[in-house]
Amino acid sequence: MFITFEGIDGCGKTTQAALLANFLEGKYRGNRRVVWTREPGGWDGGSWIRERILEGDFSHPMSELFLFLVDRCEHVRKEILPVLEGGGVVICERYTDSTLAYQSWGRGIPSEKVETLFEWCSFPRPHKTFWLDVPVKTAMERVCLRGGRDRFEAEGYSFLERVREGFSSLAKREPQRICTVEASSEPQALASRILSLVEVSLSR
Ligand code: TYD
Repeated sequence: MFITFEGIDGCGKTTQAALLANFLEGKYRGNRRVVWTREPGGWDGGSWIRERILEGDFSHPMSELFLFLVDRCEHVRKEILPVLEGGGVVICERYTDSTLAYQSWGRGIPSEKVETLFEWCSFPRPHKTFWLDVPVKTAMERVCLRGGRDRFEAEGYSFLERVREGFSSLAKREPQRICTVEASSEPQALASRILSLVEVSLSR
């Protein structure tokens, strides 16, 4: 099973992905691999591309998009597919929906173009995606508390509002795959809701 977590920076993806990975590891007790990973840079040797992406300084708007795609191609081949093909579970923080939300809704690259590139790359589709939705103001307060903003977080409110709008449109378009989780509340309560949704998907 392939599960992704999505949302604007500071929505709490890492906490929820960790709690889910922990729960599934306990459930399978080594009988099934459970891998928790993230984009960009979640593959062996991928830290350089994460650093380049976060540094930025691109003159062409497509450069950033292509770097995310290169990162995903390697991530899929090296980490995600081997686990899925072996019957394991992959929990991934950010994936194709982030590219649509940030590079299409945020940066304005037409989504049909981005989706054509996804097809060319043959990216596997997640079985379940949790979109952790929080107001931009709440997310930014959390990001400031944990200290320092990356260049996407520093883009400002209107950029992140467009990104949030992007996630919202994607969730409306694919309600079966994308579960919208109102993520302002207490992490343990959110985790219980997410676990129950995962259990339902696993039992199908
Ligand atoms: P990351 O540091 O993992 O974000 P977070 O602050 O949520 O921990 O990701 C770095 C940034 O990359 C994040 O601001 C979102 C952005 N991003 C895109 O713009 N497009 C993409 O396809 C992906 C995967 C990430």
